[in-house]
Amino acid sequence: MKLADPNTASPALHRNLTLELVRVTERAAIAAADWRGKGDEKAADHAAVEAMRTELGNVAIDGRIVIGEGERDEAPMLFIGETVGSGNGPAVDIAVDPLEGTTLCAKNQPDSICVLAMAERGGLLNAPDVYMQKIAIGAGYPEGTVDLDMSPRENIASLAKAKGVPVNEITAVMLDRPRHSALLEELRSTGCAIKLLSDGDIAGIIHAVNTDETGIDIYLGSGGAPEGVLAAAALRCIGGQMQGRLMLDNDDKRERARRMGITEPNRKYRTEDLASGDVLFAATGVTDGFLLDGVRFRKNDVRTSTVVMRSWSHTVRWIAAEHHR
Ligand code: FBP
Repeated sequence: MKLADPNTASPALHRNLTLELVRVTERAAIAAADWRGKGDEKAADHAAVEAMRTELGNVAIDGRIVIGEGERDEAPMLFIGETVGSGNGPAVDIAVDPLEGTTLCAKNQPDSICVLAMAERGGLLNAPDVYMQKIAIGAGYPEGTVDLDMSPRENIASLAKAKGVPVNEITAVMLDRPRHSALLEELRSTGCAIKLLSDGDIAGIIHAVNTDETGIDIYLGSGGAPEGVLAAAALRCIGGQMQGRLMLDNDDKRERARRMGITEPNRKYRTEDLASGDVLFAATGVTDGFLLDGVRFRKNDVRTSTVVMRSWSHTVRWIAAEHHR
């Protein structure tokens, strides 16, 4: 079998950067894992942020945080606009969620992960920290099989038809939230199965496009907009369709979005509008999950489990690493 030759065209981001990203998410996950199950979300998040920022400083990039811990005045580290990296290297934009699923980590529940995406400068949507309405399905369906402008019932019916199965063989995933009560009721009335997540919609969206592994067909509902951009970065690498629309339901949110350069508040973004050009994505498990194993502290070493992907080659690497104590 012949693999694609990585030297036949020039991607904007050098392939070796993928391994650099792994070091960054691994280090954040090891730091956060000290706080697993300790009931302290803030301490866990802080540990991940600090470790991620320290390790990013060693990466040969001229990096700019576009999705981070918040605005400069509310986050001391990894704030939006912060410059990261050694400064010697390509100009890139970076989206981070140093600890996605802080509550999952604090309660030692599945799928708490440390996440980072990198793109060419200008490649990631500068999304404000508001909710985003999202829908995602796996690869291999015709464009437009699902759409945010269709009702949940229409989306499930259209997906079932495209998959060639009855609606009751479709499984949807969504966050378990009071704001989703009408959505949940409508989905229940279709007869499809629903997996309800307590937290973590980056992993939720990745599960929905990895149908063969997870049995989940579609992600629906709203979650954080920053998480939407990170999920889109992953989908650029592994395939699948996603749409997102910012939920700007008051003047303050519209103004925040405007300040971040959003000129069309009602725009329906496709995967490639959220994350464009050459994109890299890495995530390391903190707690054991469906996506990744959590950090294992062993007698002589620490074991981590990471997935790292690249949009240019669509390579997905699963990296089990042993770090000596
Ligand atoms: P945190 O890691 O910031 O706690 O986010 C967890 C999460 O579940 C995200 O995956 C999701 O996008 C967001 O919270 C949903 O927000 P809310 O909890 O307000 O519904």
